[in-house]
Amino acid sequence: MIEYIGVNDHKIDLFEGQYKVKNGMSYNSYVIIDEKIAVLDTVDRNFSNEWLVNLESKLDGRIPDYLVIHHMEPDHSANIKIFMDKYPNACIVSSVGAFNMMKNLFKTDFSPNKLVVKENDVLDLGNHKLIFISAPLVHWPEVMFSYDSYEKVLFSADGFGKFGALDVEEEWDNEARRYYSGIVGKFGKNVLNVLKKASSLEIKKIYPLHGPLLEDNLSHYISLYEKWASYQPEEEGVVICYTSVYGNTKNAVELLKDKLNELNKKYELFDLSRDDSSEALSTVFKYDKVVLATTTYNGTIFPAMKEFIDLLVEHNFQNRKVALIENGMWAPTANKVMTSLLEGCANLDIISNITIKGSLDEANEKDIIDLANNL
Ligand code: FEO
Repeated sequence: MIEYIGVNDHKIDLFEGQYKVKNGMSYNSYVIIDEKIAVLDTVDRNFSNEWLVNLESKLDGRIPDYLVIHHMEPDHSANIKIFMDKYPNACIVSSVGAFNMMKNLFKTDFSPNKLVVKENDVLDLGNHKLIFISAPLVHWPEVMFSYDSYEKVLFSADGFGKFGALDVEEEWDNEARRYYSGIVGKFGKNVLNVLKKASSLEIKKIYPLHGPLLEDNLSHYISLYEKWASYQPEEEGVVICYTSVYGNTKNAVELLKDKLNELNKKYELFDLSRDDSSEALSTVFKYDKVVLATTTYNGTIFPAMKEFIDLLVEHNFQNRKVALIENGMWAPTANKVMTSLLEGCANLDIISNITIKGSLDEANEKDIIDLANNL
């Protein structure tokens, strides 16, 4: 029997110190009750007592034999020491990389209560047998997935995770994409590697460390993961990301927006100085075209656009059509700077370079109408 013993966090302001989570966060943990008992991962440090109470409620007086650690980031590992203080005869099961991280976090690797596992090793609990699958950089190097061959469950660590607590109903795709793009998005190649390994397994359920337990329609989630990990868009659409100091660059993107509306083309608009950049990044992962519009500033580009392009590059932005719009009253250089910043990105098609000098003129309006038609 696999039981959920995780917790919901509604007190958190910023997940990982940067992501707004309006519906909170879940830290998932599980216990497998069989001839042997294995606890899978712990939870954030602020929920030690609630987690231990959840665990005890499932044990029926028994004592856990194992603590399996799939990932050492502290939102999942913070309570290892508290667990081991309470159950000193338990054995921690994890990768060699994770035990090295335990030495850094807890100043001990809990020897001799440790069992190092690697790819294809099996932890035999009775009927349940956990097979380990190495998943480096999804999202840290020590990460392992595991597969319970009895109930056919894939324990996927941060993979298939989502922002949002489990006691809030919300659609999966958007907050899972924002979680994926921000946290795992840089490591698409590694995600594809582990998806390939998992594809040989008969998987009936996916149990991640954040977000809902996925028990139906798995092909939907796996297909989205394949697209995100290979940097392929989900659908046609335009993400317009802009900064505007006095409203003239904004006028340009508003005109573009109006023309896209007339053409019935799908788009989303982000003011990078005000809107959540993780939402903008996530939407870039969703659609196939991106418009970047900004002002020339201090001989380079406006700071919020510079930060956003850095974010794109850091997250392996690729395989997209891109249009650039610059504004500058006396020496517009923003398109040149943006082009240079995007140079390392694979397979970008720069389809338009529009220069506005101060405010829109007739030629600019025509260029923006043409751009709307081409997007
Ligand atoms: Fe949810 Fe990478 O920790």
